[in-house]
Amino acid sequence: MTQNITATATAPSGLSMGHLAVHYYDASDAEVAAKLLRAIGLVETQMLPLPQGNFYRYVVGENHFARGDGIIYLSALLEPQRILIDAITSKLGVGTAEEDPAVQGFRDMMSQDPEASFHFGFLMNSLEELEAIVLDLREKAETDPDFKDRINIVLNRAMKGDADVDARLDASPIYADATRFAYGRRGVQAFIETDILRSGQLGDKMVIELDYVFPDSDSHILSVVEFG
Ligand SMILES: [Fe+2]
Repeated sequence: MTQNITATATAPSGLSMGHLAVHYYDASDAEVAAKLLRAIGLVETQMLPLPQGNFYRYVVGENHFARGDGIIYLSALLEPQRILIDAITSKLGVGTAEEDPAVQGFRDMMSQDPEASFHFGFLMNSLEELEAIVLDLREKAETDPDFKDRINIVLNRAMKGDADVDARLDASPIYADATRFAYGRRGVQAFIETDILRSGQLGDKMVIELDYVFPDSDSHILSVVEFG
């Protein structure tokens, strides 16, 4: 079966993925958050300056410009949510010697599996594009003051066993030395964990996932989940 993302989005019945709303903490992070979404390949179609921080509209591809799906909205958290996050941080002693053990438990779970809590996945059209984005983000995380110490990338190779996939990934600039494996075949994942976007139980980070599925695969990581 060949991938056809447009056909899926324009199916005559059923639903399509409409929009996702993501947030940065406050106005000081507006431009950095916008830069991150552009760096992962989203197309910016609107920027509306607002007193609490810019509001942005993105789409997953140029053909979605005037559509009602494939949209990502980016805006600042409003004050009540910032106050709630700050209260959670303070009451649980996050990052202090008195930190509630529940916080470390949650962090351990997420470091073992970035998919264990809320996250959002984008499907890429080519592995080369995914590799270029990850290389660019790694570079930015090292050298760009906007991104330094704010991005952690975790890579999952496809479950082993398909010779063509294994060979391609062995030759990949990012997957050759990856030691983690996805819960499925013929697809790869890249998780971008960042505090530039805020969500989740502690309101401190968000995980964005980039996926690629090898063509002509009826059974792959996003169609059948396999454990073990
Ligand atoms: Fe996922």
